[in-house]
Amino acid sequence: MLPDPQIPTEVSPGDALADQLGRPLRSLRLSVTDRCNLRCNYCMPEENYVWLPREELLTFEEITRLVEAFTSLGVTDVRLTGGEPLLRRDLPSLVRMLAANPLVRDLALTTNGVLFAEQAEALRGAGLHRVTLSLDTLRPERFLALTGRDTHAQVLEGIAAAGRAGFTKSKIDTVVIRGVNDDELGDLIEYGRGVQAEVRFIEYMDVGGATGWSMEKVFTRAEMLERLAKRYGSVAPFEQRTSAPAERFALPDGTVFGIIASTTTPFCKSCDRSRLTADGLWYLCLYAQSGVDLRRMLRAGASADELTARISFVWRGRADRGAELRAATGQRGVFIGIDQLRQDPHLEMHTRGG
Ligand code: GTP
Ligand code: 5AD
Ligand code: SF4
Repeated sequence: MLPDPQIPTEVSPGDALADQLGRPLRSLRLSVTDRCNLRCNYCMPEENYVWLPREELLTFEEITRLVEAFTSLGVTDVRLTGGEPLLRRDLPSLVRMLAANPLVRDLALTTNGVLFAEQAEALRGAGLHRVTLSLDTLRPERFLALTGRDTHAQVLEGIAAAGRAGFTKSKIDTVVIRGVNDDELGDLIEYGRGVQAEVRFIEYMDVGGATGWSMEKVFTRAEMLERLAKRYGSVAPFEQRTSAPAERFALPDGTVFGIIASTTTPFCKSCDRSRLTADGLWYLCLYAQSGVDLRRMLRAGASADELTARISFVWRGRADRGAELRAATGQRGVFIGIDQLRQDPHLEMHTRGG
């Protein structure tokens, strides 16, 4: 392939790769499919979507090559997401290929849990380190109303299967929406304690896809803490903040939970993550409007050096701080309307990785 004149082809290996705000490139979220078997109304409220063309999806070999380029530049944490990643056929094979990369120190999966019970052992055997399962409610009828599917029991089975398969440090992610599930915070913490998973409450975000979003529906970090302090007496900060989006807290009995307050308290300053869509577009921010087409480079025969040069050049220029800019918007409303989402499905959260 001919070198792109704008792109330096040499990266000196000693250079620590940092973006314009001094943030390192550490974490890569790999969306392995844009499809999902739920229709959570904060993410995919429509029944039908424009899907990525199948022939454009990266093969496992292509994903593995790209991940190698990223890890050679400092990425250590890789998370498989979707859509629902377990809908991608033979995911354990991909896990096995990625786990063979010695530079991947943390290989994790974010799933809605519906299909997890049947794949937990195979994933663990293939070398998956950790799993985060989404669970927004303990009530089956609420689950049906929130996701459009009657599969609550399967999700609970999936969570139980994680422990049985030998996963430790599992997490449960709960998006908290005012008037929908804000009365379940304590119950979810109790449930998490029972299954030995750390629960994290996520503020409802105005990401692409969240076409029903409004500020009134955001149950804020401050409100969550107030609600939990009422039930438990005291809620104390636990450990220092890291680049992870969750801020951790401890209850009097030592139970730890997290809050991801990306809507009211963005953490862009320490954001070390980027995202690769299933069709090989690389996004530098959850809120970015366009991505870098790495699939095209790969399929045009780019060498490993050309890929790393391109990635490092782009990362060095990165100045994204999408959530902070959104928080500074007066009269905040839906970020991207449904017509624009239909024209470019890459703008959807389910395409770029939840
Ligand atoms: P670990 O702490 O390593 O388990 O991962 P994590 O904290 O990144 O958690 P996870 O991947 O489960 O993400 C949890 C939630 O944080 C996501 O579902 C999003 O709601 C939010 N989140 C993840 N990535 C970003 C991001 O790049 N920007 C913002 N603003 N929010 C994010
Ligand atoms: N707000 C907050 N989190 C969201 N997710 C998807 N859409 C939203 C949103 N609008 C996250 C949730 C879910 C994961 C797959 O993606 O954490 O559990
Ligand atoms: Fe729900 Fe995740 Fe599917 Fe979005 S991708 S609809 S958040 S399960």
